[in-house]
This record gives sequence, structure tokens and C-alpha cells, in this order.
Amino acid sequence: MNEQLKYFIESNIPQVEAEMFALVEKIDAPGDLKESMLYSLKAGGKRIRPLFVLAVLELFNKDLKVGLTVGSVIEIIHTYSLIHDDLPSMDNDDFRRGKPTNHKVYGEALATLAGDALNTLAFGILARMNVSAEKRIELVNLLSIAAGAEGMVGGQVLDMEGEQRQLNLAELEHVHINKTGALLRFSIEAGAVLANVSSEERATLKEYAHHIGLAFQIQDDILDIEGTTEELGKTAGKDVASDKSTYPALLSLNGAKDKLAEHYQLAIHALDQLQVDAGLLREFAAYIVHRKN
Ligand code: IPE
Ligand code: IPE
Ligand code: MG
Ligand code: MG
Ligand code: MG
Repeated sequence: MNEQLKYFIESNIPQVEAEMFALVEKIDAPGDLKESMLYSLKAGGKRIRPLFVLAVLELFNKDLKVGLTVGSVIEIIHTYSLIHDDLPSMDNDDFRRGKPTNHKVYGEALATLAGDALNTLAFGILARMNVSAEKRIELVNLLSIAAGAEGMVGGQVLDMEGEQRQLNLAELEHVHINKTGALLRFSIEAGAVLANVSSEERATLKEYAHHIGLAFQIQDDILDIEGTTEELGKTAGKDVASDKSTYPALLSLNGAKDKLAEHYQLAIHALDQLQVDAGLLREFAAYIVHRKN
């Protein structure tokens, strides 16, 4: 990994985590519910989504502090989505972030409720944030679309349907754009909202985010085949075992890698339209394509 990006990630993850843990630790809720929520939040993870919020702020020379709260909110939603994704009724996974999944430790009912509680908490945190009411409403609105039926949740439903039959490329792209892309796009767009960028800059960042979202999930599909359970911190080989429609299943492993390279190039290309030095986002794109977990 490039040194500038390595420094950016290593110096910002502790700040994101401190903010996120503090936001959740202060809630007044039944002890076992809170413990289950914090269990998955504290299990680790790459924290890519909050880092994207911060990277956009950094690009436009803005104070990163406000990004810590919005970044935490996205990571909280993402973590809820993983708890639910791992449930026996969904992907039925036993490991996540190198630890037993939430339902393995707390049972299905509490895991489901911990996900619900994280989901609703995230919106409350956004609504109470210390930025203008206009920005708060915009962020709540965008997140509700990205995380809900028109975004992540909708994508998860189509992903499940892809276990019954092999989706074609257009359908599969649609699944990836929604189940994973929507939240990643929101991360980058939220950074743009907080940084007060122009509408042209925002459109460019959204184009970058579109390709990053697709690349991220294509690499996730590839790693499910090429990675080990130890490296991934989640069970490898799950997609083949459950007959998932994935890029490698449809296009072969090499075909999926070609698609990944294509979206990487398009993401990088989009950044050429920016006037500011987008080196950090270029490095993020490279990291997503080369990551091993
Ligand atoms: C895993 O997301 C689920 C997908 C959307 C592909 P990440 O790969 O970001 O998982 P963590 O947060 O690092 O555990
Ligand atoms: C999960 O996709 C996407 C969401 C949680 C929204 P996957 O099912 O491929 O993620 P992993 O491989 O379990 O992390
Ligand atoms: Mg899944
Ligand atoms: Mg899964
Ligand atoms: Mg996967």
C-alpha cells in the first residue's frame, strides 16, 4: 500500500473508532442488547466507508472532525447489514471479522434486534449532528435511500434471488450497485455534502463512487474464491457453496478480474475531471482492487 494512504488510514481509524464507540456506549439500553451491538462494532473491519468520508474532506482541505460522526453513522449501518447478512436465514455465516458471528454469540433474536437498533440509532445520530439543519436533512434523506429498499436492502433481496438462478450481467451489476455500491456511494457523497463541493465536483465524485462500489463487490466475490478464511476473517468459499450469482460464477475468475480492472480504470478516469489533487482517492481505488481482505 502507498505510504500516504497507509498513514491516512492508520491515523484516522483510531479517531473514527473512538467517536463511534463513544456514540454507542452512551445509549441507555438493555445490557445484553448494547453488548451485542458493541460486539460487532468492536470486532474490527477495514472501516473503508468512514475513511471515504474523511478522504473527500481531506481532498477539499476541510476539517475532518465533522466526518468522524457521519463516518461512524455509516459504519454503524454497515455493521448492522453484516449482522443481518450473516443470519441463518440469509447467508448463514459463522465467522465475521475474525470472530464468531453475532447470532453465534447472542442468538438469532438478539442479533436481529441488535441490527435493528444499530439501524435506527444511525439515523438519530445524523439528526442530532452539529451541522446545519439543511445538511442534516439532506444526509438523513440520502442515507435512507442508500440503505433501504431502493439501495442496500433491495440489493440484498435481489442477491438472495440470485441463489435460485444465475443472474445475467445486467442483473448482477444491478445487485452489486445496490447491495454494496449504495452505501459506498453514500459515503463519498456525504463527504461531498460536508465539504460543500460544487455540483460538478459532486457529479464527478459520484461517478468515481459508482465504479468503486462495483469494484469493491467484484473483489469481494473474487476473494471469496481466492482468499482463505484466516485472511478474510469470514468463511471463504461461501458463494460457491450456496450457488450465489457472482462475477466469477458468471464470467470466470479471469473475466471477473477483467471487469474489476475496467471499473478501476473508470474510477480513476473520473477523477481526472477534478481540479484538486485527487491522489488519495486514486490510492484508495488501487487499495480496493488489490486488497486481500
Ligand atoms: C463486507 O464489507 C461486505 C460487503 C459489502 C462486501 P467489508 O469488506 O467492508 O467488511 P469489513 O467492514 O471490512 O468487515
Ligand atoms: C453483503 O454481501 C453485502 C451486505 C452486507 C449489504 P456479501 O454477502 O457478499 O458479504 P460477505 O461476503 O458476507 O461479507
Ligand atoms: Mg450476502
Ligand atoms: Mg454474506
Ligand atoms: Mg461476499
